[in-house]
Amino acid sequence: MLDFDRSLISNREEVTNRDSLVIELKRAETKADIKSIKQEITGILSEVKQLSKNTDTNGEEEQAKFGMSLNSLIENLQQALDAYSLERAKYYLSRLIKSLTTEKTGKFNDLDMNRWKEYNDIITDSLWIMEKRDRTGAHNAGYWGNFIPQIPQQLLRRYTKKNEWVLDTFAGSGTTLIECQRLGRNAIGIDLSNEALDSARLNISKENNVYNTKAELFNADSTKLNYRELLGKFNIDSVQLVIMHPPYWDIIKFSEDERDLSNAPTADSFLSGIRQIAEGAHQVLDKGRFLAMVIGDKYSKGEWIPLGFYAMSEIMKAGFKLKSTIVKNFDVTKAKQSQQELWRYRALLGGFYVFKHEYIFLFER
Ligand SMILES: C[S@@+](CC[C@H](N)C(=O)[O-])C[C@H]1O[C@@H](n2cnc3c(N)ncnc32)[C@H](O)[C@@H]1O
Repeated sequence: MLDFDRSLISNREEVTNRDSLVIELKRAETKADIKSIKQEITGILSEVKQLSKNTDTNGEEEQAKFGMSLNSLIENLQQALDAYSLERAKYYLSRLIKSLTTEKTGKFNDLDMNRWKEYNDIITDSLWIMEKRDRTGAHNAGYWGNFIPQIPQQLLRRYTKKNEWVLDTFAGSGTTLIECQRLGRNAIGIDLSNEALDSARLNISKENNVYNTKAELFNADSTKLNYRELLGKFNIDSVQLVIMHPPYWDIIKFSEDERDLSNAPTADSFLSGIRQIAEGAHQVLDKGRFLAMVIGDKYSKGEWIPLGFYAMSEIMKAGFKLKSTIVKNFDVTKAKQSQQELWRYRALLGGFYVFKHEYIFLFER
């Protein structure tokens, strides 16, 4: 690696923000031989590294100033510095300039594909292992049967843009709506249980509404709703993402209400409820947009019931195209922890496996 000798570089501007950085990168790009280009890059790199050492925050301030994290900048500059030829070094510089000065967003999210390497926390594999519940934000983990906030968070960032509308047909304690509020998405949450909605309302009110978005709660049986009419109440014609987190049939009883899908008398009646909701959602979800269903399987009388796959098939029958099947590990609840040994014993004796996963099925309209 070349040592940085400032005397070799004339009229260098101090790198303090995106503009000064781009000026320096463009200057480096004009160099006609490998030694001079690397000399320039070394200079820029050492200044960025110095900035990174001096930063006492978690880097957010620098990221805002440069439009890119310092770590990512360092990585890109190092790549240009390690190039074997002048052409290659110029190529890396020009790619870096492009990602600093232009945005390339897709049709259904705000991710800037010129900076795709920075989204380390966005999952693209079909196996989701989530060790801990995200405890930031106003979530109330007390609602039995809720999902962890990371599920809607991942979906919202990948499948929606800011200010778009999300429909959650089983809102429960409002996990989706809280994440929407945190990420600047509007949301409508439906639930049959007023108790669940009260807890959702309370949770949402505790969350800062930085982006001034709407979080609308609606008490109804989501299998019987006229979705167009519902959306009309909020002056919109369509939504851009649907999230369904139904009861896993009768595994957890949510209420005494016979319309509650956890009280469905048979698997067929449960599945027909899922189908009705999917058909309703199909009418109001924009074409090319996504529906995600979170669901698990169950045991009944010594038999594994593939409830998730049955429900998946109902959604497909409603006209959706399957895009991905994600397998996610289960959070073992406190109540279950104490019974783990017993379940292991039973599994060994009975020849079955203990549930440790659920599914997130992803469909495109
Ligand atoms: C698995 S929970 C959803 C939890 C939610 N994702 C959360 O994080 O809090 C399922 C919810 O579906 C609701 N539910 C059951 N049957 C329903 C129906 N027919 N219409 C609307 N909501 C229903 C229950 O009241 C329960 O709150």
